Amino acid sequence: MKSQILALLRNSEGYVSGQELCDRFGVSRTAVWKAIKQLKEEGYQIEAVQNKGYCLLECPDVLSKNELLSRMDTKWAAKHIYYFDKTGSTNIDAKRVAEEGAPHGTLVAADNQESGRGRRGRGWQSPSGNNVYFTIVLRPQLAADTAPMLTLVMALSVAKAITAQCGIKAQIKWPNDVVVNKKKVCGILTEMALEVSDIRYVVIGVGINCNQKEFPEEIKETAASLFTECGNPVSRAGIIQQVMEFFEADYEAFMQEGNLSGIMEIYHEFLVNKDKQVKVLDPKGEYTGIARGINEKGELLVELENGQMETVYAGEVSVRGLYGYV
Ligand code: BTN
Repeated sequence: MKSQILALLRNSEGYVSGQELCDRFGVSRTAVWKAIKQLKEEGYQIEAVQNKGYCLLECPDVLSKNELLSRMDTKWAAKHIYYFDKTGSTNIDAKRVAEEGAPHGTLVAADNQESGRGRRGRGWQSPSGNNVYFTIVLRPQLAADTAPMLTLVMALSVAKAITAQCGIKAQIKWPNDVVVNKKKVCGILTEMALEVSDIRYVVIGVGINCNQKEFPEEIKETAASLFTECGNPVSRAGIIQQVMEFFEADYEAFMQEGNLSGIMEIYHEFLVNKDKQVKVLDPKGEYTGIARGINEKGELLVELENGQMETVYAGEVSVRGLYGYV
């Protein structure tokens, strides 16, 4: 009920009477009063005026299950939420709850990860208080080789969400990073469990640097946060909400075709290296070319100097700008 009261107060202009809250949720005045008291303790500034009711004056940058639930206006994405102030890794948690039967769209979010996981066995630094770390559980009825495409769907949704929420253009660095001003603000890690060659479930983990002000020496040149790039603090729950809303629609467009053809055009608008020179770091040998975009399977098309088109599969290959990370 707390999240529903919060949603009602957030979406109302002015005051909502205590009686209206009682009627709406079928509870007593005492129950409403208790829920309001708890919300205040969590940091929400709620004014209570006799004969008028309650009014939400200010929302702090709270990350909690109630805050997230109160915001979600989706059909299936993040309708079930697990939230942890501190955890090991939301990807590990998501795999555990998926094994226990968590439904499609379940979201696991945390304020702090003690063993955040990055791609290729690397870690993902996950300090508390400023960023978001979340993982969504998906149960698509698809063959295993389609799972990597879901990383691209998520990257698109994150880029759209940042652009909408912060008013700065976010771009996708194929296949799984989102950048602002050519610096990485988001990483995505997709993992899956299989049943023979079909997907049993997929978990897509997303880390977005939101309000972090400083970065360790070793990543300072290539990493940034939404705050460092747009100059304003961002609502972390607001970012998760927007990502979930965009993702629900992008995922449905993807599922309709079973590939990326329905969202390729918009993906290209966000692709940072489109029509730019790139260096492909293939373990079999490095080469350069011009990134021309993706195909419907999500592979990157790189045009070589002789006009030949190479198809780059994400797997073990990295793609860089000619003079650095982008
Ligand atoms: C990368 O290496 O760029 C991918 C980083 C992915 C980090 C996110 S944070 C939420 C989720 N939980 C994890 O342990 N990792 C992903």
